[in-house]
Order: sequence, then C-alpha cells, then structure tokens
Amino acid sequence: MRLGGAQLLDSREILPGQWLQAYLAPDLVAGARAGQFVHVRTGDYSGLVLRRPFSYNTIDPLAGTLTIHFRTVGRGTAWFTQLRPGDRIDMLGPLGRPFEVDPRSRHLLLVAGGLGIAGVRALADEAIRDGRQVTLLFGAATAREVYPSSLLPDEVEYVVATDDGSVGHHGFVTDLVPEYEAWADQAFACGPLPMLRTLSNLAATRRQRLGVASLGRKRGAGRPLAPGSPQARKKAFLQVSMEQNMGCAVGACLGCVVMTTSGTPQRVCREGPVFAAEEIAWEGGW
Ligand code: FES
Repeated sequence: MRLGGAQLLDSREILPGQWLQAYLAPDLVAGARAGQFVHVRTGDYSGLVLRRPFSYNTIDPLAGTLTIHFRTVGRGTAWFTQLRPGDRIDMLGPLGRPFEVDPRSRHLLLVAGGLGIAGVRALADEAIRDGRQVTLLFGAATAREVYPSSLLPDEVEYVVATDDGSVGHHGFVTDLVPEYEAWADQAFACGPLPMLRTLSNLAATRRQRLGVASLGRKRGAGRPLAPGSPQARKKAFLQVSMEQNMGCAVGACLGCVVMTTSGTPQRVCREGPVFAAEEIAWEGGW
C-alpha cells in the first residue's frame, strides 16, 4: 500500500451520471492487480473529509496510468467531476485482495451488474494479456445504462441483458449464466447483492447439474484451504467482489464487514473485496 499523487489526464461522462477518469499515477499502478482498489482524497477546500474507494477499472503498468469509473451519488463524487486535466489528487493503494485466476483456466466468465463492471473490467485485460478467452455478461436496467462496447477489448465476447428488454436479453443477467457455465473454467462477478447471491446459488449447484470436474481435484485433494487465502480464491469456481460502504478502508473501523460461512466476520477492505463465493454467508443479514 502506498500513498501517491495522481494527475488527471482525462475525464468524461460515458453514461448518464457515470464518469470515467484516467490518472497518471505510477506509484499506485506498480504491482496493482484486478480486483484491488484505491482510496482517494477529495480536495483540501472541498469541505469533504472521507476518502472515496474506487476499483481499479483499468491498469496500464507501462504507461503508469489507471482509470476509475464511478457514478455521481453525492457531493464527494460530484467533486471529482469538477476536476480538470492536469489537476492532482492523492490516492492510497493498491488496497484489498485481488482476483486469483487458476493457471489452468482458459475460459473466464465475467458477470457484472451496472457499476459492478468497474470491479471486473481490469480482469478482462489481465486475462486477455495472458491468452485466455473472456465472455462478459453485463446487466443493466435499460439500454441507456449499458456499458459501451467500445470501452472493452475487441477480444471480449460481450453479452448484454436489460431489465426492460430495450437491448439484449430481456431479463436479469443471471438468466444468461446457464448458457456459459459449462464453457467457463472460472467465473468472476461484481454487482448488486441479489445478483451475487443468485450467482453463488448457481455455482453451488453447478457440479451436480453439469456433472463437471472441479479444478484442483487432484492437486491437494481433500486438504482444507485457509478461508480468505489466495489458494481458496484460486480454487473457487466463482469469485465475487463485494461492494460495501467503507470508512477507513484500512481495516480499522469495521464498517465494511460481511459474515462468512465459517462464522467469522471479514472486512471487505482488508480480507476482500474479492472472496470465494462459498466463503460468504449470503443470508447473513449484514
Ligand atoms: S472500511 Fe474500515 S474496516 Fe473496512
């Protein structure tokens, strides 16, 4: 984790109320991985105290740049939209634990709901760079909120669902999963809690429904993996990036905990935001 300066390079509204900003921030980019996030301070004169967490939407280690994608939901996020190219802000990062891809996985299924695209977007780049095939299932309320395909690598197969049927599949993005779950070696998701809960239920029953072997069946079979460990995430069919309100983002305030199946509360900012889906107690009521 490092505290570094970031210089705004580009800022644009890509969807109604949703912004994409590119920053030059070599200190924050070095070693950063998909699934991690930065904690960003608003300006000295903004009157706003709390930092804001943003997923690494894209990471370019060669150029030393990163992008964040956010929705304006209050004064804090609105403040960011007032920045102009050349303005500098400070960021803390990389924070949290990243997605872990099993080296044997060739086919990755990414599932995003709305702004959850920011949580998995960088993984598409990483996977394609490593020679993997990627299908991205994206769900939104209407066509007006569909993430532009022009912002995705050409290699990604992009499939859209909208609640009102104005583009793509008419229904939830989770309706699309059964068509791809036999193809996928692993799946990675970010979005609203009901979407993640449904995906987790599908993943839990996948092996019985499809009769597929699981990765890691031979290597270390029967050996328990430590909850929250990179190995546990790497072996999971489904990894989820949890979206929780955050205060400190460094593990001190306990404002971001989720309950796990082991009965141990876990901090999204430290033990997450990425978890193996089976580690989360989805009916935990947190
Ligand atoms: S935000 Fe404070 S412990 Fe996670």
